[in-house]
Amino acid sequence: MPAKKTFYITTPIYYPSDKLHIGNSYTTVAADAMARFKRLTGHDVWFLTGTDEHGQKIQRSAEKADKDPQPFVDEIVAWIKELWSVLDISYDDFIRTTEKRHRETVQQMFNKLYEQGDIYRGRYEGWYCTPCEAFWTSRQVEDGNCPDCEREVELVSEEGYFFRMSKYAGRLLQHIESNPDFIQPVSRKNEMINNFLRPGLEDLCVSRTTFNWGIPVPFDRGHVIYVWLDALSNYITALGYLRDETLFNKYWPADVHLVGKDIVRFHTIYWPIFLMALGLPLPRQIFGHGWLILKEGKMSKSRGNVVDPMVLVERYGSDSVRYFLLREIPFGADGVFSNEAMLLRINTDLANDLGNLLSRTMTMLERYFEGIVPVPGSEAHPSDGELRQLALETPGRMSELMDKLQFNGALEALWNLVKRSNKYIDENTPWSLAKDEAKRERLGTVLYSLCESLRFISVLLSPYMPRTPRRIWTQLGILEMPQLQSWDSLQEWGLFQAGLKVQRTEDLFPRLNIEAELRSLLGEGEGEGEGEKSEDKTNKGLSNEQSPQQKDADHEKVKNGEITKEMVSIDDFARMDLRVGEIVSAEPVPKADKLLKLVVSLGSEQRHVVAGLAKYYTPEQLPGKKVLFLANLKPAKIRGLLSEGMVLAATDSNGKVVLTTVEGDPQAGSKIS
Ligand code: MSP
Repeated sequence: MPAKKTFYITTPIYYPSDKLHIGNSYTTVAADAMARFKRLTGHDVWFLTGTDEHGQKIQRSAEKADKDPQPFVDEIVAWIKELWSVLDISYDDFIRTTEKRHRETVQQMFNKLYEQGDIYRGRYEGWYCTPCEAFWTSRQVEDGNCPDCEREVELVSEEGYFFRMSKYAGRLLQHIESNPDFIQPVSRKNEMINNFLRPGLEDLCVSRTTFNWGIPVPFDRGHVIYVWLDALSNYITALGYLRDETLFNKYWPADVHLVGKDIVRFHTIYWPIFLMALGLPLPRQIFGHGWLILKEGKMSKSRGNVVDPMVLVERYGSDSVRYFLLREIPFGADGVFSNEAMLLRINTDLANDLGNLLSRTMTMLERYFEGIVPVPGSEAHPSDGELRQLALETPGRMSELMDKLQFNGALEALWNLVKRSNKYIDENTPWSLAKDEAKRERLGTVLYSLCESLRFISVLLSPYMPRTPRRIWTQLGILEMPQLQSWDSLQEWGLFQAGLKVQRTEDLFPRLNIEAELRSLLGEGEGEGEGEKSEDKTNKGLSNEQSPQQKDADHEKVKNGEITKEMVSIDDFARMDLRVGEIVSAEPVPKADKLLKLVVSLGSEQRHVVAGLAKYYTPEQLPGKKVLFLANLKPAKIRGLLSEGMVLAATDSNGKVVLTTVEGDPQAGSKIS
């Protein structure tokens, strides 16, 4: 068997100066989805994450907490590992820069670079931003503030070792220009070239003396190695550089370093130059993704407005949080995080689209075939071929988008298949087929196709939502059949075995009561929604400091008309003239196969109404039914016919529209209040 293609992916290593927020989780979730996708498509994957534990920033945070740096970071690192565990992050290695394997290798690297003359001793006079751990020149520092984080910089004057960046600048520029994929997205590449490389690189100070929490310079113990040289090296020290040639040669160079936009500079200028000096190949790509921001701006601990991912996962499950992060925002761009956007996605995409597709299919299989997957007949309707075609095309489409790190595009492509499958149900109306014994084979084809489509969807879902596929497979009866869960099994339509027993068990994603959830996340009362799980009443998804903005958001209208988010007053309700209407007659509307023309009695008057009921009721079934009726809806013309009001209806679990009739025998025209 030929060796599998390798794929090495990394996240930034996080500062354990504080707990991580949803923004940091974003990179790691994306890297995990990518790693899982590559594993699914047959790659030999190495996925690295970790923590960046040295430097002035950490030392100061520890001092503030009145702790020694090591125990201080140990505690936070344990929390970070717990977070990755609840978010189902499937890393292959977790590197801590305080580990011996890392410290010793970094010292060896420093020695080598010094011995070959790329590092020399000098004196640093300039500016330093501790939160970013970055050196800045006077030209770059405006009004005494860091150009990146806009916080105050400090004037530093100390002995130090310098790295000859200028020596490699030309080679780097050439590399960037001749490898268009090296820095992505393109906007970040242009920024690096124009703002940093073209103006010329100054030599970089790579050691500090004014604090000691770092890796000592091996031959000059009063100095610690600059934290970015220390940190960037993690990508090779973890792989066994200078220690384990087999592992190192197998996976290096990295296929992609995923980083946030703020640290692209360190990864596309310092890191490749260090690697060039070490004589090592450069990573294939550095992808600088955008930031998750809040409506009022940046998320940061100092502003007290960070979103705690642990709380969201506890409450909504990791698959929902992962789905939202990957689906909502194009990966390169900044995107606004809001609780209501997340809840909406859960309700529309997960509960409505995906959840209903599974539950409708399961319910119909149980109702019409006693839960046994029927043998499909021939494809008799164009929708069969369209569904099959789309299912077969979707894996390739997603693969192309994933190679461009377009997670949201890949999920959109997958949801096209979910939506097409739901549409397939509506087009084929299995509940009507079930009424006619002569159409039994056709009904079997429709339900079989839905099982097959759900199989495709569940396999393709696994990199993004690792828990949900197993729940779908359990209901479909294929949990123990790995041959139906592989990427290869998606090359062919029709592998699902007829005769298998399915079982409807649970709703995949119970609908959330958005109002109640929002109130509860704000700590303003407990949610009544089904997603209510957490007992924790103090540490909500958004910290309490943010509540004024959230309160505004709470009253915002939801884009999706299906979900009534805005609260209405009793006066608002009273504006609606709801009555009991009695259907007097019904007849088809010519050339409109969904519509029926009704005459509805309100006692003292009769109304003409056009209603989309033809697929669910024959005209004969309707006269005499007493229904809920909205009498003061503005009249409208539908297909040239005047419609004066609306009969109210609901959708049952099979997707069938059912009239909302009334109990007892109230008189036509009775007011509903
Ligand atoms: N320790 C360095 C990275 C060293 S890599 C060799 C560091 N750590 S960090 O903890 O401050 O940030 C880690 C990552 O989180 C960065 O990629 C940063 O861009 C990302 N994010 C921080 N806030 C973020 C958002 N609000 N949204 C998305 N990503 C965010 O930098």
